[in-house]
Amino acid sequence: MTKNNGPVALVTGAGRGIGRAIAERLSENGYQIALHYWAAPDQAVEWVEAVLKQGKHARLFTGDLTVEDTPTKLVAEVLAAYGRLDVVVNNAGQTLSAPFLEMSADQLETLYRLLFLAPYRISQVAAQWMVRHSVHGCLVQIASVHHNRVTDQDSAYGAMRAAAIRAMQSMAYELAPYGIRANAVAPGRILTQFLSQGADPLRLQEIDAVMPLRRSGTPEDIANAVEWLVSPQASYVTGMTLTIDGGFNLSMPSPMIGGKPTFI
Ligand SMILES: NC(=O)c1ccc[n+]([C@@H]2O[C@H](COP(=O)([O-])OP(=O)(O)OC[C@H]3O[C@@H](n4cnc5c(N)ncnc54)[C@H](OP(=O)(O)O)[C@@H]3O)[C@@H](O)[C@H]2O)c1
Repeated sequence: MTKNNGPVALVTGAGRGIGRAIAERLSENGYQIALHYWAAPDQAVEWVEAVLKQGKHARLFTGDLTVEDTPTKLVAEVLAAYGRLDVVVNNAGQTLSAPFLEMSADQLETLYRLLFLAPYRISQVAAQWMVRHSVHGCLVQIASVHHNRVTDQDSAYGAMRAAAIRAMQSMAYELAPYGIRANAVAPGRILTQFLSQGADPLRLQEIDAVMPLRRSGTPEDIANAVEWLVSPQASYVTGMTLTIDGGFNLSMPSPMIGGKPTFI
């Protein structure tokens, strides 16, 4: 392992999918990666081993982010291991959906803890350290297009995404005097390995066909956005939510009246 004094990025839920692509990109850009995973260690361990072999730096951290003290412990562990923290990407999440009339208290609690409370606390403890050490860091919240678009069965998921974005805006406002920026990325449909494995190819094509850009997104599309948001090119950008959805949010279908899509 070579010595590295590069900036440190904590990416949660980064063993696979979008988080993994973000970790990969930040690593390519010289960051030491604090890679958080939870229930699926294999891919996380494999990736960190590969990064170390390339002479770059990455370490594994774990913990269930729905458990009350995991978020603060996680940041403390990263700081103890690296002695610094420059970027936090709150990516870990689950899509739990149910009709409003049937949403269980347990599911609601999980979504609240994972999508709102955990990123809030992680950002708070990380920012407290950044302020104390005059670090002009970046916080990035991975959210979802559901934060402002109502679709089937997303009352709790969408609401928690909206809440996390609203909290990010206050973070951006209150942390701006310290030179700390906070932004969010709202992905649309992103085809991760997890989503595509075993999926019916015809169904995937049908979904791609309704996207204005005629494809689903890739984890790399989201990594591109995060890479830019934490870069000096975005040094005047804070409190913003970058929607990366191939135009999906624009594509409210026209109502069918008399068998034809109709402008109303
Ligand atoms: N893919 C999409 O189309 C899409 C669209 C909009 C928003 N998003 C959001 O983008 C983020 C990444 O999505 P993805 O598609 O890459 O999802 P994914 O493949 O399901 O990965 C989710 C990550 O979150 C971690 N995680 C789940 N529950 C956790 C818990 N209780 N405690 C700690 N970590 C937990 C998982 O860790 P382990 O694997 O170790 O269990 C995993 O690494 C998520 O927040 C997701 O909701 C995704």
